Amino acid sequence: MPQTYDFETVLARREAGGIKWNLYEADVLPMWVADMDFRSPDCVTEAIVERVQSHSVFGYHFEHAPLREVLTERMHTRYGWQVEAGQLVFLPSLVVGLNLMCQLYGGGAGADVATFAPIYPPFLGAPKNYGQTPSQAPMRVERVGSRLEVSIDWDAFEACITPKTRLLMLCHPHNPLGYQYSRADLERILALAERHDLTVVSDEIHCDLILGDQPHIPFASIAPEAAARTVTLMAPSKTFNVPGLGLGFAIIQDPERLKALTAAMWSGMVAHTGVVGLVGAEAAYRHGQPWLSAALAQIRRNRDAAVAFFADTLPEVACTVPSATFLMWLDFRQTALADDPYKLLIERGRVALNNGKDFGLGGEGFARLNFACPPATLQDGLGRIARAVRGG
Ligand SMILES: Cc1ncc(COP(=O)(O)O)c(C=O)c1O
Repeated sequence: MPQTYDFETVLARREAGGIKWNLYEADVLPMWVADMDFRSPDCVTEAIVERVQSHSVFGYHFEHAPLREVLTERMHTRYGWQVEAGQLVFLPSLVVGLNLMCQLYGGGAGADVATFAPIYPPFLGAPKNYGQTPSQAPMRVERVGSRLEVSIDWDAFEACITPKTRLLMLCHPHNPLGYQYSRADLERILALAERHDLTVVSDEIHCDLILGDQPHIPFASIAPEAAARTVTLMAPSKTFNVPGLGLGFAIIQDPERLKALTAAMWSGMVAHTGVVGLVGAEAAYRHGQPWLSAALAQIRRNRDAAVAFFADTLPEVACTVPSATFLMWLDFRQTALADDPYKLLIERGRVALNNGKDFGLGGEGFARLNFACPPATLQDGLGRIARAVRGG
């Protein structure tokens, strides 16, 4: 009998601790940071409990051959992508990974780092940590009725690459726009990366959260020329709702870049991974697929419910229809909240979204909604947004 999963019960997350439910006052509903209000898969809990109980030793533990094995298999079966075990580097977090990318491949202080915008804020913060300037190519976000349609502005993208650019940071699928780059997009990006001799960092943390028919295509997998200049960042964090385990990984097929990252991991500036993350990640990738399929079904239903809500009940707020991620980009520019949606949603609606302004160019007047939650929480949140916009 297929196992059933409960994505409807509202969990006591405030009591469980964690940033999402404890940053704001108790009457504010949190729909911001990208973790899900669902129980993580039981296979993860069971593997961690088993490891903890059977060996009560917590020594240094930053290698885990079975995880390398399951990941190389996964790249092959999902994407036809041949990755060798030694081309994986485990990381404690992908935000740390983004910072390492700027440090190692960014071109040093004074360089420009190219990226599309609006964009997950650490893409803007990481270059700045190394004296670099994020050079942002605004995506085209067009309002059609109550929907936002997203496409690439290639002129803006070419223009954001300057003579001082050494690194291009891609978020694929894209956070916050829920956009998946197509093979044609990726090929065009590769052509530009080759022409300007750029390292490409492709943050693919959302690659398993596909809501439509278009499968994920890792940037590095499209051609040997792409693999030769790309660092791919992935993690089980979003896929299986385990960001608290602190485990991500890089795939690097160019020996020089691999050598540089491996050396940086021993510099003393980066925490090593731990046994709980490694064992939990292995279990998630090995046994978590039924949970993920069921979670995705709920996430799709939530997306459709939210899109219908904005179309039918609150059309002055336009929304993306994300084909990936559990994040929705909302346009408040035609509402009374236009000046500062993030702040006014909290003040008037008691609901916390992410502040569009933090996502760089194109973020003014927008907010990001996380809809990976039980349906009752989603309805509560949408109702709060409507009250904030319309009053009453
Ligand atoms: C594109 C992207 N990269 C990285 C992260 C965070 O990764 P980590 O928790 O491993 O630092 C997120 C989280 O939302 C994300 O959306």
